[in-house]
Amino acid sequence: MILLKLGGSLITRKQEPFSFRHGVMRRLAREILPVAEREPLVVVHGGGSFGHPLALEYALHRGLSSEEQLRGIALTRQAMAELTRLVVGALVEAGVRAFGVQTSAIAVCRRGEPERLELGTVRWLLELGLVPVLCGDVARDAELGVCILSGDTLVRELALELRPRRIVLATDVDGIYSAEPGSPGAKLIPEVTPESFGRLAPEMRSHDATGGMRRKLEELVELARRGYTSVIINALEEGRLRKALSGEKVRGTIVKG
Ligand code: IPE
Repeated sequence: MILLKLGGSLITRKQEPFSFRHGVMRRLAREILPVAEREPLVVVHGGGSFGHPLALEYALHRGLSSEEQLRGIALTRQAMAELTRLVVGALVEAGVRAFGVQTSAIAVCRRGEPERLELGTVRWLLELGLVPVLCGDVARDAELGVCILSGDTLVRELALELRPRRIVLATDVDGIYSAEPGSPGAKLIPEVTPESFGRLAPEMRSHDATGGMRRKLEELVELARRGYTSVIINALEEGRLRKALSGEKVRGTIVKG
């Protein structure tokens, strides 16, 4: 089984609310098809400019504290449903037998961490030969009332439950950099291990603007500690996703388990 995360900044334009990269997603779907025909696959997509602006506007990541947030919960769920519809639509159009599964309907969290994941539907789809498509989502939180369950955290949990033989994180940058990508002297780090992450971590704190890449790396390092290797790639570059899904070496960062 292969586990793939399509990052929100890959499939949406992060700066433009509700802007889906239709062309990119159509190409990604074509790159996914050959591997989906060969072996079981689970896809998780992020929120990008559909989920994040609403989650932030209504402070859903901080839990439920006011009546106004209820509208934010409804709007965020609606935005993620729309994004899943677009992702699944492109996959099905390309010939992938994709099936959207609403993360918030199968997850209970505590402080943003999944406490229970009801994976019966996901396992059933895999047995049938379909491709479950989940997403980062606004979710039920036993302590905070509501939380934002990040797609990267979901990947970590799904990996521990489903034991994939390959984990690919497709984003819009080449991988983990020694400094803010694009800044002078920033170099791609081809391999991270739990040991080297310890040395990298303080360094990343100072360069990380959104928390996005840092959080992703933390989840992957946790998986590495449990023996799972994963790879972060830039899937805006044509062909890289197809190669990474097939286990070919591509430019990126391997988080070694
Ligand atoms: C966020 O999921 C989901 C919502 C904001 C509702 P992710 O945290 O996985 O999204 P990306 O990949 O960073 O955009």
